[in-house]
Amino acid sequence: MQTDSSFTFVLFGGTGDLSMRKILPALFEAHRAGGMLADSGKIVAVARHAADRGEYLQWVNEHVKPYVSKNGVDETAWASFLERIEFVKIDLGNPEDFTLLRDAVKDLPGIRVFYLATGPSLFVPICRALASVGLNENARIVLEKPLGYDLKSSNAINDAVGEIFAEEQIYRIDHYLGKEPVQNLLALRFGNALFEPLWRREWVESIQITIAEELGVEARGDFYDNTGALRDMVQNHLLQLLSIVAMEPPHSMDSDSVRDEKLRVLRALKPIDPLDIGKVAVRGQYHSGGIRGSAVPAYATEPGVKPNSTTETFVALKVEIENWRWAGVPFFLRTGKRLADRVAEIVVNFRAVPHSALGVSALRAGANRLVIRLQPNETIRLYCLAKQPGEGMNLASVHLDLAFDQFFREGQMEAYQRLLLDVINGRLALFVRRDEQEAAWRWVEPILNEWKASNKPPKPYASGTWGPAAASAMLAQHGTCWLEEEN
Ligand code: BG6
Repeated sequence: MQTDSSFTFVLFGGTGDLSMRKILPALFEAHRAGGMLADSGKIVAVARHAADRGEYLQWVNEHVKPYVSKNGVDETAWASFLERIEFVKIDLGNPEDFTLLRDAVKDLPGIRVFYLATGPSLFVPICRALASVGLNENARIVLEKPLGYDLKSSNAINDAVGEIFAEEQIYRIDHYLGKEPVQNLLALRFGNALFEPLWRREWVESIQITIAEELGVEARGDFYDNTGALRDMVQNHLLQLLSIVAMEPPHSMDSDSVRDEKLRVLRALKPIDPLDIGKVAVRGQYHSGGIRGSAVPAYATEPGVKPNSTTETFVALKVEIENWRWAGVPFFLRTGKRLADRVAEIVVNFRAVPHSALGVSALRAGANRLVIRLQPNETIRLYCLAKQPGEGMNLASVHLDLAFDQFFREGQMEAYQRLLLDVINGRLALFVRRDEQEAAWRWVEPILNEWKASNKPPKPYASGTWGPAAASAMLAQHGTCWLEEEN
């Protein structure tokens, strides 16, 4: 993708964890690839913890370089990347410091992007300070998740930011939308007529969407303990995936057509009845256990976590969509930390044959199923039944396999790289619009409230397992089970 759109990319939280692991490595990768970033484009890092540009570049060399290009760093590209970087020392608590930023960027070229890789409590003060020095004009602002803690706090941030930036200037990041396989899901659904007639209640029995992690809370115990899995993963990533799986074909791929269709799904989610919560929602918390043979500690003993914490690290939900396409089809969503494997996948279970002349239940035998694996390796598999060679009619499950890395030799683009390029080039389709975010909070909030009111602790599960047994029992009530339980 050749570009000549010049830019000034201002990175707030320039020495933070996200800048170190994701944002600067993604910008480097785009720079290294060539042709993706205009030569004149500049990165202006804003931070408090470095004295000047020299010290900041030293920090970048020490902390960011280990996260770039797994196969070794291209030193020439690295050196020219550093030349793009400017630095402004600002105390975010001091709005007058923003005149320093205004002076630093006033002669820099291109569209201005302000990336707020900071905690959400700083979003509004930063936007106001930018406006006070006139930097909100003709600019784009990128807001990282979590955007608020609940509907009220997210509305408060959106209202205040909305007074300073128009909606078309606001890019709310959900990095799952930038993942290559999620793009492919759109291609699969809307580029092939084959699936469309089957993609509905008449032919689909149930759908599972899992984002499982092996990692625990790492160094983020403090943040996570006030957040929990429902806010960290369900309100955003899982509901976004669900809306892409379930949406109607958009009229075009322009940003509002896609987002309008996703919004319709979010608005059609059947509200959770508090009296049913025990049947449709499972919350868990990891205890000690083993991940790939290594002992790992319990959540409640992680640094930054309160010893009696009742924060959930696992959630499983049964969700229904109240529209003609999906009425009555259960969508099972699941996410958790310290689970048995790192995997993100969507499983579409089609209905079994109405009468099996061959004497097997096709679904049980692992057929009539589409598995879209988003990570760690991207594959799409369509499971069918086939006759085993030899005498007699013995059936076995086989699959048609689409392994993207074998088809397309070039490497995949990291989610952050794609999303940052989209911001620079003004493409909004993969960013969450305010009304989508509100609809997601509106649906999630009764669950949060009910959990809080009931005061019940989450169900324990051993690290390295697939979460509390109740998550399996929930599916058993519908005569089904999680994919890994079949194998
Ligand atoms: C983030 C969450 O949004 O997504 C993290 O805050 C989680 O808790 C991460 O670990 C998972 O992302 P990925 O891309 O590694 O699956």
